Amino acid sequence: MLFQDYYMGYKFPEPQYLGAKYIHREWIDKYIPSDAKVALDAFGGSQSIAYLLKQHGKETHTNDLLSFNAHIGNALIENASEILSAQDVDLLFSPNRNPNYFSLMEQLYSGLFFTREDAALLDAFRSNVDCLQDKYKQSLALALMCRCLTRKVTMGHFAHTRALDYAANGERIRRNRSLIRPLRDIFEDLLPQYNSAIFDNKRSNKSYNENILELLPKLNNIDLVYFDPPYCDSHADYQSFYHLLETYVMYWTDKHFVNTIKRYDPKRFSGFDKKSTMIDNFHKLLSLAQSIPVWLISYNDRSFPDINTMTTLIRKYRNVEVIYKQYSNSRGGKGSVAGSREVLLVCKM
Ligand SMILES: C[S@@+](CC[C@H](N)C(=O)[O-])C[C@H]1O[C@@H](n2cnc3c(N)ncnc32)[C@H](O)[C@@H]1O
Repeated sequence: MLFQDYYMGYKFPEPQYLGAKYIHREWIDKYIPSDAKVALDAFGGSQSIAYLLKQHGKETHTNDLLSFNAHIGNALIENASEILSAQDVDLLFSPNRNPNYFSLMEQLYSGLFFTREDAALLDAFRSNVDCLQDKYKQSLALALMCRCLTRKVTMGHFAHTRALDYAANGERIRRNRSLIRPLRDIFEDLLPQYNSAIFDNKRSNKSYNENILELLPKLNNIDLVYFDPPYCDSHADYQSFYHLLETYVMYWTDKHFVNTIKRYDPKRFSGFDKKSTMIDNFHKLLSLAQSIPVWLISYNDRSFPDINTMTTLIRKYRNVEVIYKQYSNSRGGKGSVAGSREVLLVCKM
C-alpha cells in the first residue's frame, strides 16, 4: 500500500447538496494526477472533492462563496484533529447564553420551516457555538447542524414552503423519519461520522470563503484546480436553495428577508448563477487560472453554455479531453434528469 493510500480509509459523511459530486468521486478520482502536490477545489460546495484531494495527501485549498460551505471546509479539510466531545454537545444544546444571538431563526422561520420550539433551539445552539474555544470545533458544530437541517426538511433545501406540511404527512414521515425527529437526536446520530472523518494528512490545508474570481489572483503555486461551477440551468441559484443555512451561520442583522421563503437580500455576487454573465465570467476564470498546469472541470451535457462553447473557450488556453459518464438513474446531482450525462473536461498544457 502506498503511503498516501492510507488516507483512503477515512470516509466523507454523505452530503445532501444540489450538484454534490460525492456520487461521482470514484470516477473523478481516476483523473486526479498523482504528481500534483497542491490542489484547489474552487467551488467546494459540500467539500466532497476537496476531501478526496486531502485523502490523496495533497496540500488542499478549498473555497466556496457561501459561508456554511466554508465552515464544512474548515471542519473537514483544514482541521486536522479537533473533534466534538460529549461535553461540547451538552454545551451546544444548553440554553441561549449570548444576547448577540437573539431570536432570528425563531422570528423568521418558525411556522415556515420549523416549529417554534425547533427554531428557538437553533438560536440557542448558534449562541453556544461561540462558547466553544476552538475555531475548528465551532465550524464542525455549524457544519453538522446545517446537515441536520437539510435532513429535517423534505427535499433537503429551503426553496419551498411546504416543509411543515410535509413533516405532518404520514407517507413522507415513513420515507424519512428525520422529518419528526428531535434535532439533537439527528445531531448525535451524525456526530460519529463527522468526528471520524477528521484526519491529518500532514499538509497545510486551507478553506476560503470568497468569490473565486477574487481569490484566484491571490493564490500561487497550485498544481491542479478542480472547477465545479453551478450548472447554469434550473439549479444555479444556490442562495435561494440554501439561504436559511447562510442566514443561520452568518446571523445576518443587516439584510432584508424577502419572498415567501424569507431569503436574505441582497444576495452575494456569484457571477456564475445567471446565463447573462456566465460566459464572460468563465473567460475571466480561465484567464486567471493560466498559471495552474492542470484543470479538471465538471460539467453536464444539458448545461449552459453547451459543451462545444465550453471547449472552444478552454482551447484558447489548454488541450481538452471530454470524458462522459452516463447516469444510470436520476440521481445525477443538481436535480439532473435521467439520461443527461455528467462530463469531466480534463485540461492540460
Ligand atoms: C456545483 S456546486 C459544487 C459542488 C461540489 N463540487 C460538491 O461536491 O459538493 C457549485 C458551488 O459553487 C458555489 N459558487 C457559486 N458562485 C461562486 C463563486 N463566484 N465563487 C466561489 N463559489 C461559488 C456555490 O455556492 C456552490 O456551492
